Amino acid sequence: MKVAVLAGDGIGKEVTAQALRILQAVVPKSAGLEVEHAPIGGAGVEVAGDPLPAETLEVARRSDAILFGAAGEPGDEKIPFDMRPGASLLRLRKALDLFANFRPAFLFPELANASSLKREVVDGLDIVILRELTGDLYFGEPRGVKNEGGERIGINTMRYSESEVRRIAHAAFRAARQRQRKVCSVDKANVLETMQLWRGVMTEVGNEYPDVELTHMFVDAAAMMLMRNPRQFDVIVTGNVFGDILSDAAAMLTGSIGMLPSASLGEGAFGLYEPVHGTAPDIAGKDIANPLAAILSVEMMLRLSFDLNDAADRVRRAVSTVLAQGYRTADIYQPGTRKVGTREMGDAVVTALERH
Ligand code: IPM
Ligand code: MG
Repeated sequence: MKVAVLAGDGIGKEVTAQALRILQAVVPKSAGLEVEHAPIGGAGVEVAGDPLPAETLEVARRSDAILFGAAGEPGDEKIPFDMRPGASLLRLRKALDLFANFRPAFLFPELANASSLKREVVDGLDIVILRELTGDLYFGEPRGVKNEGGERIGINTMRYSESEVRRIAHAAFRAARQRQRKVCSVDKANVLETMQLWRGVMTEVGNEYPDVELTHMFVDAAAMMLMRNPRQFDVIVTGNVFGDILSDAAAMLTGSIGMLPSASLGEGAFGLYEPVHGTAPDIAGKDIANPLAAILSVEMMLRLSFDLNDAADRVRRAVSTVLAQGYRTADIYQPGTRKVGTREMGDAVVTALERH
């Protein structure tokens, strides 16, 4: 069981350190956990002059799963794309063909008051946004800024092939079969040809899963419905750009983006696990970031890459326990609870694990 740990920049380092402690505490000895650290993002630039050093990509390739923190540095946008610390994650996803990005949004009952929506709207929320991760505007060609008629023109290309849509569709229907058997495909087929293709292929693949209900929604309506009645959803499947946006919105339903894990998978069990939040430079190095999203990413890793469901259940229970005990990092703090830092939250989860 080889795990590559790419902690990266900002709070990535702090939260990953805690997540790794949890992983080491929960994995049975017989699984033979081997951990290999490698630099990425700003750290990659420092040691190898490349945000995604070749050696790091090698470490990632020879692992069974990747525990990723966050990558990026303030002012990133000014650097050419391939050399940007923040783009290292995009390059890694693409290089490893991790096209299926699962972003669950579920509410721990203890945090219902931390949500910006009313309790009765979010109580019991449990949805998954499945975001396609290796296509769309993020990677489509042509791209760039060029001069035309005496002014600059910015160009990006929304692009999906049929096979790209087909494989993410299958991933969505398979996931729905493990849940409430409902898929809502989100697109913009009323305006964009690419999205007409998307909708058509979704419908075709849906016919192979008669036991799963397929609905379609335009992305603007989906954004509204996520705020108005999020519990109508089970699995939302969507493209790279819409998924980026909707998953941040869904994160807020649960109180804090600091609570949400994600998994990026290819065709097999190999996957990359990362908190949905980024580097958060404003709070980096202060030991105040919430490590629970990273810890819950370990839970997803145990389930999806290693099929260690008991260990995964223990992690989930331990997180529930510390929340019930009142431990809160600053992002989810409310009067009457107990404010702790990153490391202390990790300590609390380790202690709770030992008890389960
Ligand atoms: C995410 C992030 C990334 C993305 C950035 C950091 C490139 O926002 O994982 O959602 O846009 O995919
Ligand atoms: Mg994002």
